Amino acid sequence: MGVFITFEGPEGSGKSTQARLLYERLQALGYPVLLTREPGGTRIGELIRRILVDLRHTEMAPTTETLLFAAARAQLVSELVRPYLNTGGIVLCDRYADSTFAYQGYGLGRDLDELQAITTVATGGLWPDLTFYLEIEVEAGLRRKRMARDRAVEATNPASTFTTPPEWNRLDARDLAYHQRVAAGFTALMSNDPGRWRRFAAEQPLDALAEQIFSEVVPVVQHVFRPEARG
Ligand SMILES: Nc1ncnc2c1ncn2[C@@H]1O[C@H](COP(=O)(O)OP(=O)(O)O)[C@@H](O)[C@H]1O
Ligand SMILES: [Mg+2]
Repeated sequence: MGVFITFEGPEGSGKSTQARLLYERLQALGYPVLLTREPGGTRIGELIRRILVDLRHTEMAPTTETLLFAAARAQLVSELVRPYLNTGGIVLCDRYADSTFAYQGYGLGRDLDELQAITTVATGGLWPDLTFYLEIEVEAGLRRKRMARDRAVEATNPASTFTTPPEWNRLDARDLAYHQRVAAGFTALMSNDPGRWRRFAAEQPLDALAEQIFSEVVPVVQHVFRPEARG
């Protein structure tokens, strides 16, 4: 079995940035490593993502939203994550099932036991070995994300703003109170399962954060076979 590592945290905390930096570093060291994201990561999952993030989909029922996330996750786990872990590789995932509990559970008020049941169906009970939580003040994270979006708008055709990353999507656009419930939800999730989580302040230089993350990963991937390792 390989190693499954996920990144969680509020919008704009740097999950995608750090997942990519870790991916590049592990790859350069010769580790078999796969980088993917939720919702999405597969052809079918990316189509589901488009439905989920579309700003026009204001009528989406919370149950629909929950089940679409679960459907995308089921596809990701069965198509990519499990097969890759079975080959002994490292899978890095930008968000995973914890986000369901934080966003649909604590954020939207869905019953947590019900979410647990849905999640178990979607994942077959697969949980990460290690989860990084990048902690940032909700407003600061949203500001970072909005700035990234604005820079992208300036640089590209405005008509394509919401289809090209970095995006500002239906889930980001929810009110501040929602995002604060989500952040409090993550804190509760961490205290329920402290062994799996590594919590870091997101408001520090990229490289410093990447170093801290890498030093936590080293012991966890020690047993992974590196076919391309030299010396
Ligand atoms: N440590 C950091 N310090 C300052 N800006 C950062 C840092 N990490 C990421 N950013 C910037 O913040 C924005 C959001 O980062 P991103 O990785 O997309 O966050 P997330 O995936 O958590 O939403 C991007 O513009 C990114 O370049
Ligand atoms: Mg991201």
